[in-house]
Amino acid sequence: MNAKTDFAGYTVGYDIPALPGMVEADIQTPCLILDLDALERNIRKMGDYAKAHGMRHRSHGKMHKSVDVQKLQERLGGAVGICCQKVAEAEVFARGGIKDILVSNQVRDPLKIDRLAQLPKYGGRIAVCIDDVANVGDLSAAAQKHGTTLECLVEIDCGAGRCGVTTSEAAVEIARAIDAAPGLIFTGIQAYQGAMQHLESYAEREAKLDAAIIQVKAVVAALQAVGLKPDLVSGGGTGSYRFESGSVVYNELQCGSYAFMDADYGRIRDQDGNRLDHGEWENALFILTTVMSHAKPDLAVCDAGLKAQSVDSGLPFVYGRDDVKYINCSDEHGVIEDKRGVLRVNEKLKLVPGHCDPTCNVHDWYVGVRNGKVEVVWPVSARGRGY
Ligand SMILES: Cc1ncc(COP(=O)(O)O)c(C=O)c1O
Repeated sequence: MNAKTDFAGYTVGYDIPALPGMVEADIQTPCLILDLDALERNIRKMGDYAKAHGMRHRSHGKMHKSVDVQKLQERLGGAVGICCQKVAEAEVFARGGIKDILVSNQVRDPLKIDRLAQLPKYGGRIAVCIDDVANVGDLSAAAQKHGTTLECLVEIDCGAGRCGVTTSEAAVEIARAIDAAPGLIFTGIQAYQGAMQHLESYAEREAKLDAAIIQVKAVVAALQAVGLKPDLVSGGGTGSYRFESGSVVYNELQCGSYAFMDADYGRIRDQDGNRLDHGEWENALFILTTVMSHAKPDLAVCDAGLKAQSVDSGLPFVYGRDDVKYINCSDEHGVIEDKRGVLRVNEKLKLVPGHCDPTCNVHDWYVGVRNGKVEVVWPVSARGRGY
């Protein structure tokens, strides 16, 4: 679903948590709210950083799953396009008008390959990752069947321990096969080190990326030696982008979480030992919740439980409050320690989710607020699109 401006027939509370123009106090909870000023500052900051370091920034849409947020990243932050993880997400973004899409993942299922190969018909550039030479023929056949062209990035496992080849030889073999395959273009490599992004220490993250960079440089040299110089060397996330930018070998960043931030990224440290959410990036995404019970003097219960968020990376924290603490959750209940009994029933609180990506995926809408008013309501366009 693309940007929505006509909400005729929508009932607040049933269809949608709020409508543009409403005051923030009337938003129905639990729901996701975006602090638009903070979001825009984050987006501009990453855009300025990428530009100053000569990097392309292909923002990762797996995080926000929103055509509207992506368009803001392109307009304000100069993002060159989007990454996504699934063909269904790519379909949403292609239909939404995004013109440069990389599926930063493997696509092997025949039906998914067939759908992927049709996406260039929306008028944009479509790229996909490959880590197995056997995938090349299937992608090529589908592209020829639909009269389209797919760009291909050989995926390197540079420490994440998931998809990707680990040797230069394997990368060269796949790149050669792509180069020879009708309907495919060898565009470059993807080397995303996902396992180090949330390490708390800056020095530890840097050491992991140093090792990745050595590996990536070796792969690029091997490709160059056979006349297949990669146009794109893509990777990098919110916990590592400074290292890829200084590497000389990477030329494209894939950061996602920086735009919204979450509790798990907030606790990791920057170069000076400060939390990442104390200076580098601002919290722009919150779960708005309401206190619905205070039957016990030291415990408040709010309406944002497990179904309003993902707690795989830890519990949320209550934004701007050190006097109360979110300590537990069950399906529809969030338990908040309130030792001094300061919270009141119907009081609204802003929670910073533990992990933004899977939290966004369980909501239908983003309510964008500025100066106490609802300015926009955006669909979480690719929510649930996991196929
Ligand atoms: C392939 C790939 N690139 C980039 C990212 C973006 O990372 P982050 O949200 O940490 O900035 C991810 C996140 O998981 C990813 O899987």
